[in-house]
Amino acid sequence: MKSTKAQVIEFCLPDLPDAGVRAEAFAPSNIALCKYWGKRDAELNLPVNGSLSISLGSLGTRTEITESDTGTDQVFLNGKAVVQDNPFARKVVAFISLFRRELDQPVCIKTENNIPTAAGLASSASGFAALMLALNDFYHLGLSHDRLSAFARMGSGSASRSIYQGFVEWHKGNRADGMDSFAEPINITWPGFRVGLLKVATGAKKIDSRSGMQRTVDTAALYEQWPKQAEQDLQTIKRALADQDFELLGQTAEHNALSMHATMIASWPPLLYWQPESVAAMQRVWELRSLGVPLYLTMDAGPNLKLLYLAEYEAQVRDAFPELLDIDIVVPFG
Ligand code: PMV
Repeated sequence: MKSTKAQVIEFCLPDLPDAGVRAEAFAPSNIALCKYWGKRDAELNLPVNGSLSISLGSLGTRTEITESDTGTDQVFLNGKAVVQDNPFARKVVAFISLFRRELDQPVCIKTENNIPTAAGLASSASGFAALMLALNDFYHLGLSHDRLSAFARMGSGSASRSIYQGFVEWHKGNRADGMDSFAEPINITWPGFRVGLLKVATGAKKIDSRSGMQRTVDTAALYEQWPKQAEQDLQTIKRALADQDFELLGQTAEHNALSMHATMIASWPPLLYWQPESVAAMQRVWELRSLGVPLYLTMDAGPNLKLLYLAEYEAQVRDAFPELLDIDIVVPFG
């Protein structure tokens, strides 16, 4: 039987929380090397397949929760007050209300994203992870990491992985209440691993990942193959990480991303997140690779590329992609 988010949370946290005073938390953004695409439960954000990502160090979201002094909930985003019926404010307050329940305490939430808008990265993963970490502190919930990750997942699937730094695996889980669907860190450091963010296009009208996934699952016959491939890719990427086999990791991550996009394109109406500039950038990646530079790409539900390479090739990569200079090269591990 399917449960609602509120039912799962009430079952896990039977007592009303204590009123809070102040809490602050940071969570990093992340980029999936093996993607999450498709939900087996849309209410709880339970995925069809497991996924694996790398967190982006200091790029992410910082959230502060304090008691509101105006008698109503207040939401600020990057220093600006957000009106109550704005979709962002509504999502944030709805998520807080899952934990606040009947406790009568309006709160003030201040969210700061330090992800450069030019990087073309989504912030819902770091946003919900930071909010969950702050709520845990504010209401003294004392949640384990597994539960923090599972609850963050209810805000946004990929937020389950943003609870941690480094390489992170999100287990798909099998339970109907989703409490076995949480992320865990993979205990591997790889100092030479680099992720570059390449913003290639602006202004493309974006269909959010929730509706995109639903459309793909409902209409793309190709999607039938996806869970099988994702499961294989997940195992291969874990092996590549354990062996520090960059070529295997890069190939598998790129193939995984393009296979996900193939299922989107095979949806109806078609779902193509790429812009002409995205394709041109992909071709430049492949050209550089044909010249012997181990450079791979991955893409989420948007037109921008994330480049994967090793520190020793940084000069060649920057040479071929001077626009990387304007964005940022994220160094997850020192
Ligand atoms: O968690 P959401 O709803 O932001 O979906 C994330 C979907 C992808 O970014 C395309 C893949 C992923 O695993 O992050």
